[in-house]
Formats: sequence, structure tokens, C-alpha cells
Amino acid sequence: MRAFNVSDYLLLHLDMESALPRNRQLYRLLRQAILDRQLSADTRLPSSRDLAGELGISRNTVLYAYEQLLAEGYLEARASSGTFVADTVPDLDGLSGVQAPRKAGGGQVRLSRRGQRLLAQAGAATQQWGAFVPGVPDVSRFPYQIWSDLQRRVWRQPPVSALTYGSGGGYQPLREALAGYLKAARSVDCGAGQIVVTSGIHQSLDLCLRLLSDPGDVVWVEDPCYWGARTLLAASGVEIRPIPLDAEGLCPTPAQMARPPRFIVVTPSHQYPLGMVMSLSRRRMLLEYAQRHGCWIIEDDYDSEFRYNGRPLASLQGMDSCERVLYMGTFSKTMFPGLRLGYLVLPEALAPAFVTGMEELYRSGQAPVQATLAEFIAQGHFNAHVRRMRLLYGGRLELLQHAIASHFEPAEVAVSGGDTGLHLALRLPAGSDDQAVARDALALGVAVRPLSRYYYHAGRAAPGLVLGYACVANEQIAPAFALLARAIRNNRRE
Ligand SMILES: Cc1ncc(COP(=O)(O)O)c(C=O)c1O
Repeated sequence: MRAFNVSDYLLLHLDMESALPRNRQLYRLLRQAILDRQLSADTRLPSSRDLAGELGISRNTVLYAYEQLLAEGYLEARASSGTFVADTVPDLDGLSGVQAPRKAGGGQVRLSRRGQRLLAQAGAATQQWGAFVPGVPDVSRFPYQIWSDLQRRVWRQPPVSALTYGSGGGYQPLREALAGYLKAARSVDCGAGQIVVTSGIHQSLDLCLRLLSDPGDVVWVEDPCYWGARTLLAASGVEIRPIPLDAEGLCPTPAQMARPPRFIVVTPSHQYPLGMVMSLSRRRMLLEYAQRHGCWIIEDDYDSEFRYNGRPLASLQGMDSCERVLYMGTFSKTMFPGLRLGYLVLPEALAPAFVTGMEELYRSGQAPVQATLAEFIAQGHFNAHVRRMRLLYGGRLELLQHAIASHFEPAEVAVSGGDTGLHLALRLPAGSDDQAVARDALALGVAVRPLSRYYYHAGRAAPGLVLGYACVANEQIAPAFALLARAIRNNRRE
């Protein structure tokens, strides 16, 4: 069989008369060839210069398509050897860690391309408890006795309206309690009417994307970023622009600034996963830019209630006088992730559309749970629980920092992001293979996430690990880190 020739294929299918820009055509054709396995994993693509010459188009056109496919994970750049088809592209016969769905009769189900991509990029871990699972609070300390008493009271005589489909953006007393809490704790400036109660940040982001973006719209996202944001953005069909970070947070290049996006998705209070806080000047810059170009900023404020050192942080939303910020928060970290409750705070002008959109897309409900939570907040249990957990996690953070310092010299590793939240980022010695460390650590019973997996651009990724310390009992931290240190040393190339 004749080998697949990428230039011939593109020459045949590129339509020079089409109204669709050539860079978009090129992107779609290459993506199609990858999904159809004509271009298999590890195939080296021609250089952008060579391909542009063969197709008789500009090099920028090719670069655009390559950049986009790199950003979406179809291609990967390997230092000094070129651009290759990624080996994580869906292969339903052998997806790593993801089972291809099978029909009852044993035959394979063919997913949509979007579905295949979703599975290929799947980021959710099955292990959700223990050393050092990131982002999971100590749910064993949740005051479930208080919760169940409150819940029983709610259930004593629930009004009919609490048991039907919900409406209006959530249970009103919860929205009111939230407006008060967010003002006091996060300096979020809003009324209850601007809040939509959702099932968490995943649903909030999905709602934003569905109501405010169209496929092909440009979205800026931090590189590295939260895997869930990456999955949702990819599934929505927007064009992802991974933006580099510096010590002050999001740091777009002049070329990126020249092409304003529809959305800017950021974690300004505790960058996920590296942990830096966005500086005041960067916040101002971003707000002014968003106002000037009509962009929406989506602020993901997922864990900043837990602040151990330094001044309390204010939200970006609270600085926004131009109604450009959509603020997303969650009870997954402050209460427990299985609760599946979060909130979206909207500019006033957007709130009615989002209330309707929520009902149309997902139908709401869970009023008894929302009523219990409203009482939990109103009676002061929420603040008390967060205060207790902050002390507990602060102690665990110190134990982890101590364990790190007892196994490694400061020059060998670097820790970032430990002032806030439930995790820190540990940079490994140069030359370490963080994915191999994660695999070996798991075999020893320690779950960690390799930092390099969070990056769009492999060239920006430094080897490291994301370590969650909130759901690890104090006495387990040192022994678990000793095992991890062994896995780190075993995978170090001197
Ligand atoms: C940055 C970030 N955003 C959002 C979430 C998930 O939020 P939710 O559980 O509300 O969907 C997480 C969970 O770890 C996260 O790390």
C-alpha cells in the first residue's frame, strides 16, 4: 500500500477558492487525517517552511494550523526534532487508561469525534482520597451531624415548590446567603439576583461557553491550566490560545494581545496548578484590556478560602467596574466535592439570560439540599467549618513542606503555590521524568499528578508534581513523602 503523503493529501483537498480561510482549512484537514488514522501517532510532519512551499501558501498559514493542533493536543513539538502526531490522540483500540466503550455483542461503539477527543484527553482520576491527591478536602471532618439535623428540619414539611423542577437561578435564601458571604469573604460585589446556583465550576464554565461563545471563537487560557477547563473548552469547539505565565500570572505576548479573544479564563487568586497570585498591575491590565476589546473574563476562584500566609486576597470581580467578569466559585473544597454545588456570579446584564439558559439546558432542582446549605451558612456553621479546616490544612502543609526539606536540598527542588488552597507544586530536578515518577509512586500507593500533563506547550513544561495535602492524615504525610522521594530519585537522570 502506498504510504500516506501529507502534502499530496493537502494539495488535493485544499480549496483555494473557498470562503473558509486557508489556515482553518489546513487545520481541519490535518485534524481529520489524524482522527481517521491516516496520520498515525508519532508521524513527523513536514516543517512549516517546507509544507508552505509545497502548498504554495504562506508559512504563517501553516504555523497557525500547527499551533492550533498543538494547543488541542493533536500534535506535539519535540525539542530540536520537529512536530509529530501526538500519541495521545484517540485510539479506541488502545486508549491509555480509558476503556473504549464496547457493545453488548462485543463490537466497538464509534464515538463522535468530539467524544473521542474528550476520552483521549480524559483527566479525572479514579483515586480521590489519600496521599497526595490534589484538590480533595478532608471530607471525613465534615460536620455531618449538624448537616443531617438541618436536613431533617428541611424535610419535615417541604413546600411543594421545593420538590418540583427549580426555577429562577436557585433557592432564593441560598442566593441571598451567598451574596452576603461572597461580599465579606471574597469582596465580590453582587446582589442575589446576579447569582446562579450550579452543580459546580464545571457546569458554570459549560454554561458560560454555551451562552457566550460560538465554535471558532478565540479563548485565552493559562498554560498550564486545570484539566477540567481544558476538557470543557475543547468540547465546546472554541479556538484555544494557551497563554504563558510569569511570576505575576497571565502574561500574553504582544502578538497574542493583538488578537483579542472572546473569553479569558483565569485563576487569579491561586493559579492552577502553579499557585502564583495574579499581581495588582496584571489584574488592572487585564480588566482594562477586557473593557477595551469587549472580552469576558471568567474568574475561577476554586480554593482561595484557604489562605495560610500573607494578606487575604480579593477577587478580580470586586475590582471590575465595567461588568466584564463572570465569577465562578464552588463548595467542592469548602464543604465536600460530592455535594456538587457551586455558583456563578454574573454581570447584571447577563443574569436573566443565564437563569433561563440554566433551566433550558440542565433543569434545576435540589431545593432541599440548597435549603439545608442556606441554613448551614446562615447559622454560622459554614464559616466555622472553613476556619477549622484552614487550621487543619495549614498544619498539613507545614508537615509536607518539612518532609520535602528533609529529603531534598533547596537547590534540587522548588515549591510554589503553598500560601493558599489544598495543593502545592513541586518542581523536580532538571532531567526528571515526572510521568515516570507518578507511575512509580502509584505503584507504591502514592497518587500524584505530573505537572507536565497540565501544559499545552511541551516546550514550556518543567518537570514537577502537583501534591494535594488536605486529604492526607497528619501521620501519613512523612511516610508517604518518603516513598515519593524514592520514586523521584529513581527517575532522575543525572
Ligand atoms: C482550578 C479548578 N477549577 C475547578 C475545579 C472543580 O470545581 P467543581 O468541583 O466545582 O466543578 C477544580 C477542582 O479541583 C479546580 O482545581
